[in-house]
Amino acid sequence: MTSKRVKKPSQERAELVERLKEAQRHHGCVSEEVIAALAESLAIPVHEVYGVASFYSFLTTRPLGRNVILVCKSLPCHLKGAEMIMEAVAKELGIGPGETTADGRFSFELTNCIGLCDHAPAMLINQDPHLDLTPEKIKQILKSYK
Ligand code: FES
Repeated sequence: MTSKRVKKPSQERAELVERLKEAQRHHGCVSEEVIAALAESLAIPVHEVYGVASFYSFLTTRPLGRNVILVCKSLPCHLKGAEMIMEAVAKELGIGPGETTADGRFSFELTNCIGLCDHAPAMLINQDPHLDLTPEKIKQILKSYK
């Protein structure tokens, strides 16, 4: 009798997420090539790996800038003026959500709740939280990222 350990689906998914995060740290994004290689090495169908890679807002399938802005678009932030924050970021950088500045300094993304609702509207730049945002604060905040 062999003693092969069978992983539960949740364990497989957790391992896949960790491998995707590691690949993103190493390659800057989770490209199609990375997805295909992971699918093969973990014996998981490519579409499942892609589904996980595209589900999480902290993973990206395309190259991002040096600093990644994640503006929360969920309801509590929306009710506290997230739209004005998005407009201020777009105006300051000259790009819209889903885009990267030509110099590669910033990528601008929207995200679901980041757990900072008590200080809405909120955003993350890289992993730094920025709270109780107003359009006036945006320029100063962005200046501090090179
Ligand atoms: S809704 Fe924006 S941080 Fe939770």
